Amino acid sequence: MSEIIYLNGEFVAYEDAKIHIEDRGNVYADGIYEVIRFYNGKPLELIPHLQRLVRSAASIRLETPPISELVPAALECVKQNITGDGTVYIQVTRGVAPRKHPFPKDVPSTIFMIAREVSRPDAEQVAQGVACITVPDIRWQRCDIKSIALLANVLAKQQAIEADAYEAIFVRDGAVTEGSSSNVWAVRNGEIWTHPADWRILGGITRDCILRLAQQEGLTVHQEPVLAAELATADEIFITSTSTEVMPVITLDGKPVGAGRPGPATLCIWQAYDAMVRGAAQ
Ligand code: PDD
Repeated sequence: MSEIIYLNGEFVAYEDAKIHIEDRGNVYADGIYEVIRFYNGKPLELIPHLQRLVRSAASIRLETPPISELVPAALECVKQNITGDGTVYIQVTRGVAPRKHPFPKDVPSTIFMIAREVSRPDAEQVAQGVACITVPDIRWQRCDIKSIALLANVLAKQQAIEADAYEAIFVRDGAVTEGSSSNVWAVRNGEIWTHPADWRILGGITRDCILRLAQQEGLTVHQEPVLAAELATADEIFITSTSTEVMPVITLDGKPVGAGRPGPATLCIWQAYDAMVRGAAQ
C-alpha cells in the first residue's frame, strides 16, 4: 500500500507528493524539521515537539501553521500510515521562489509530513550497548535550531558508520556537545552530566524527559559541559533521541567505557524511559 503524505494541507499518495526544484529547502536548506515518536499509534510528547518546531521556525523568521492545525494534521497522517510504532517527520521550508538569497515576498511556506513505521531499538542492542567515536564539531553557532541544514551531522554520522560505530559525538573547544543526531550523557560516581541547552546543542525533547525521569529516580544531573578527556574516562556514557530512546555507549574511540558494558545509572534511566513509553502506548 502506498504511503499517504501530508503536503501543504492535503493528503496525497507518495508518488504524487512533489515539491518544486526551487523550493528554498532544496536550494538553501532554508527550513526546519521535527521527528516525533508514535507508539501503538499514540504520540509521545507531541505538543513539546510541535512547540519546538514553531520555536525553530520563529528563530529563522519562518511561518508555520499554528499548533492547533499541526496537531490534527500529524495525528491524521499517522492514522493513515501507522498502526504500531513509528515516527512522523515534519518539514517546513520558506517555499518556492527563483533562487535569490533574500526572503521571497508573499510566498507560502512548504510543509510536509511523512509518517512511517519504525520499530523501537532492538532490545539486544540496548542490552549490549553501542560504539561511538568523537569528531570535531564543525557546525554553526545555532545548533539549538532544528535546521534541515544537516551536512556536518551527515558527514559525522557517515564517519561513525565507516568506523563500525553507531554514533559520532561532537567535540567543540575541548568539550563534548552532542551526537550527530542525539544528546550525550556521561556518568561519574553515580552522577550524570550533560551539556546545557544553549546554542551548542539541540535541546532534545528526549533530553527533557530524561531530566524529569532522573529526578524521579533520585539521580543527580549536572547540566554542565564535559571535556572530551573526561568523557574518555567516564564510568558510563549513554545517548538519547526520539528514535534511539536511551542507548548505552560501551566503547568510545575504540576504548571500553567503564566496565565495557551498560552501567547501573544508564540502565536505571533506560528502564524509567521504557516504562514511560509503555505508558504512552496504552
Ligand atoms: N534527531 N541532537 C541532534 C543534533 C539531533 O538531531 C537530535 C534528534 C537530538 C535529540 O533530540 P530529540 O530527543 O528531540 O529527538 C539531539 C532527530 C531524531 C533526527 O534528526 O532524526
